[in-house]
Formats: sequence, C-alpha cells, structure tokens
Amino acid sequence: MGKKIFVTGTGTDVGKTFVTALIVKKFCDAGFSAGYFKVAASGDEIENIPADAFQVKKISGLKYDMKNAVPYSFKNSFSPHLAAKIENKKIDFSVIEKNFREAEKNFDFLTVEGSGGIICPLRFDEKILMLDDIVKKFNLPVIVVVDSKLGEINSAVLTVEHLRTKKISVKGFIFNRYDEKNILHIDNKNVIEKITNLPTITTVKKNASDLEISVEKLAEYF
Ligand SMILES: Nc1ncnc2c1ncn2[C@@H]1O[C@H](COP(=O)(O)OP(=O)(O)O)[C@@H](O)[C@H]1O
Ligand SMILES: [Mg+2]
Repeated sequence: MGKKIFVTGTGTDVGKTFVTALIVKKFCDAGFSAGYFKVAASGDEIENIPADAFQVKKISGLKYDMKNAVPYSFKNSFSPHLAAKIENKKIDFSVIEKNFREAEKNFDFLTVEGSGGIICPLRFDEKILMLDDIVKKFNLPVIVVVDSKLGEINSAVLTVEHLRTKKISVKGFIFNRYDEKNILHIDNKNVIEKITNLPTITTVKKNASDLEISVEKLAEYF
C-alpha cells in the first residue's frame, strides 16, 4: 500500500490544485508512481474529467486516464452537498471508499486534494457526511495550503485548530503565491508557524513550475 497525504487549504481558490499538481509532478519526475484523488469536484469538466484533475494531469505529467480519480463530479459550482442535491445525487461513503482503496493500492504516493476549505459538507440531509470525516477515516495526514495574502493568519490558524480538535495529524504549510520580499508574506509565515508550532514545508512563487523541496524530503511528510 502506498503513502498518502491530504491537501487542504484555507479556502477555495487558494491554490490547492496548483500545489497538488506540483507535488504530483515532483514524484512523477523522480520516477515514482504517483496518483491523484479528489472526493468531489464541482464545475465544468475538461476533456471528460473534472477541471482540477485535468489541471493536475497537465502540470504533473500524469499519464493515466484519471477516470476513477474523482468519484463525484458535479456540474454546479457549489459545495458538494448542495451540488449533489440539485443534481439529484447522494454522495455515498462506500463509493468513495471503494475508489480510494483502489487508488492507494495502485500508487506509491497518492495525493488527495480537498474541496473548498476543511469544513466541507458532502452530504447534509437526514445523514451528515463531512470531508474531514473522510480524512479521519482514511487516516490521512494533512498539508495546509495557505495563500500568502492578508487574512490568512486567521484562516490558517483556525484550519489547524479544527484539524487538531478532530485529532487529525497536520504536517505543516505550503505558502502559495509567496514572494520572499513581501513583508506581509514573510510576517504571515512567521506568525502562522509560531502560533501553530508547525513548519513550512515549502513556499510556492507565482507561476512556479516546480516545488522547491527534494523529493526525499517531500516523501517524509506522506
Ligand atoms: N502559484 C501560482 N501561480 C500562478 N497561478 C496560480 C498559483 N496558484 C494558483 N494559481 C491559479 O489560481 C487559480 C486558483 O487556484 P487553484 O489551485 O485552482 O485553487 P483551489 O484548488 O484551492 O481552488 C487557478 O487558476 C490557478 O491556476
Ligand atoms: Mg482545486
């Protein structure tokens, strides 16, 4: 069975897909079998796969068809629970588990991308299923992608506190769109590290094409 990680973020559009793609690329470039998984995606598909999976495939150079990489794909760009409701579907844990177990068998390093932030309902009707229930159930350690912008101290610290309340292991942060000369970015990183007592795994510049960390070091977080 391969090693796994869950990539969450401080919210939507912070760069989870972008960073995930660079993580997967790192393993692909080093010749490992790397896989991508996302429980639920919302929005348009590209070439018959969810846009996030397409982006990851394009950037990382993954070769496989990604058909089972995202068990649930919704047309409506809403939270999975709402998109599912509108599209008359119900997210079923056993379907997620079947696809996930297959993926973890198939790859040495499986990177699982979250949807939205860490509080994300998958089902919110007579049954409640949250994304962090899945993270906990699959025993996935977590990396938090933080956008380097204003407001992220609050979002990053709350994300970590929530994960710790749920007794989910948090490995550290990847600061996205990070400019090492920007005083706000530098301060955000320092303050977030100090409050949470967690390390920064690496930082990612705007339009980066590679992750600035060795594959060996990255593998240690999985
Ligand atoms: N470091 C970066 N440099 C350039 N563009 C980025 C960077 N990070 C994210 N983006 C772009 O910002 C948008 C949102 O990022 P994305 O990874 O899709 O966020 P999320 O998965 O958290 O919703 C995408 O168009 C993505 O290509
Ligand atoms: Mg994404």
